[in-house]
Amino acid sequence: MAYQLDGWTEPTLRENLAKAGVSRRAFLGFCGGLAAVFAAGGLETGQAAASPLPAKFIADTLGSTTKPNVVWLQLQECTGCIESALRSGGTTVEDVVLNLLSVNYNEAIMAAAGAAANKALEDVNKEPHILVVNGSIPTKDGGIYCTIGGQSAEQVLRDAAENAVAILAVGACAVWGSVQAANPNPTGAVGVDQIIRNKPIINVAGCPPIGEVITATVAYILTHDLALPKLDAEGRPLFAYDQRIHDSCPRRPHFDAGQYVRTFDDEGARNGWCLYKMGCKGPSTFSACPIIQWNLHTSWPVEAGHPCLGCTEKDFWDRFTPFYHVLPNVAGTGVEHSAELIGWGAVGITAAAVGVHAAATAVRRSASRKVEEAPLAAFGDDDGLGDETPSPKITSPATLDESPKSSGKAE
Ligand code: SF4
Ligand code: SF4
Ligand code: F3S
Repeated sequence: MAYQLDGWTEPTLRENLAKAGVSRRAFLGFCGGLAAVFAAGGLETGQAAASPLPAKFIADTLGSTTKPNVVWLQLQECTGCIESALRSGGTTVEDVVLNLLSVNYNEAIMAAAGAAANKALEDVNKEPHILVVNGSIPTKDGGIYCTIGGQSAEQVLRDAAENAVAILAVGACAVWGSVQAANPNPTGAVGVDQIIRNKPIINVAGCPPIGEVITATVAYILTHDLALPKLDAEGRPLFAYDQRIHDSCPRRPHFDAGQYVRTFDDEGARNGWCLYKMGCKGPSTFSACPIIQWNLHTSWPVEAGHPCLGCTEKDFWDRFTPFYHVLPNVAGTGVEHSAELIGWGAVGITAAAVGVHAAATAVRRSASRKVEEAPLAAFGDDDGLGDETPSPKITSPATLDESPKSSGKAE
């Protein structure tokens, strides 16, 4: 369906959508999708963060939104995040909504350029607004590695944050610096919360984040009187980041059975076995990828046959590389932790847990093989010796920092 968008010309979002050709049915469908995103979280935490709002409530509340001021900065980044939000597959209601919500200033999609664009930013910065940031902030050498209109990205961010009523860092770059901040971090790249310290930051993590999660986070704020969603220890909205990939992964039965892909074209790969030994970081990664999926719910990395790289986790370029190796052997504790508690220690904790789990599975399977004298293929391709599975060194849980890195960042 091709929608005709002339900018924000009508009083409310719903009226502008109708003018663009978005039917009520299509808008309700879009809001149903948002409700599903909100409902995706909270299963483990049981908190109100999941916001089990009915689609009709979201449609009524979001639809009656009057023109919000939104500043959408793109700093040191690759444009992948806005592409994720806007190009998730054809022209969708989501595209139209995001276009309408970012009319004030968004370098990638606004018509204005040069002095006119700078003026638009100056004007909206004077008003209360929602600030969305893609990209990291280079801090070395006076910030010369990313300038906009002659100003450093840091200054642009500080100016835009001053009157912001809510700030979203969208994408791994804006959240933690991502690939630019990877060792040796030549530009001194940092995330938004390293620069703006006097306001809560919502970290919409991922490289890029799922488009629906970006939209849902903006929609959450607009449908909750600008209140922020519940956040985890890393500042991520719990509704989208409280579930571990590993726990919702359709390949999980193969992990439990010790059936691993060893090369990308082996029989295990063709049979959809577990990608853990191809370096999958799903056991240490919190994201709703298996549930919400990508590209209009077409698929997601693990379903497509590629291991999860852990792109929603802090400093994944440094901590999770080499990407195609199993998790490092780091001391840790039990396997079932919520994202809220794991925070920065996720890799070590879950790496060890996976090792324990895999080893226990192998032992069980090995015992069962002896009893049943079944061929290995019937139970998986692992010989139970754990040649590539890390042998966890378990230490006392008391040695681990399980306390949230931050709390009370939002209500
Ligand atoms: Fe690009 Fe990833 Fe950074 Fe988004 S988070 S701007 S997709 S590198
Ligand atoms: Fe799925 Fe990866 Fe876990 Fe295997 S290790 S079950 S592929 S998330
Ligand atoms: Fe990222 Fe892993 Fe999802 S790499 S896109 S969190 S499957």
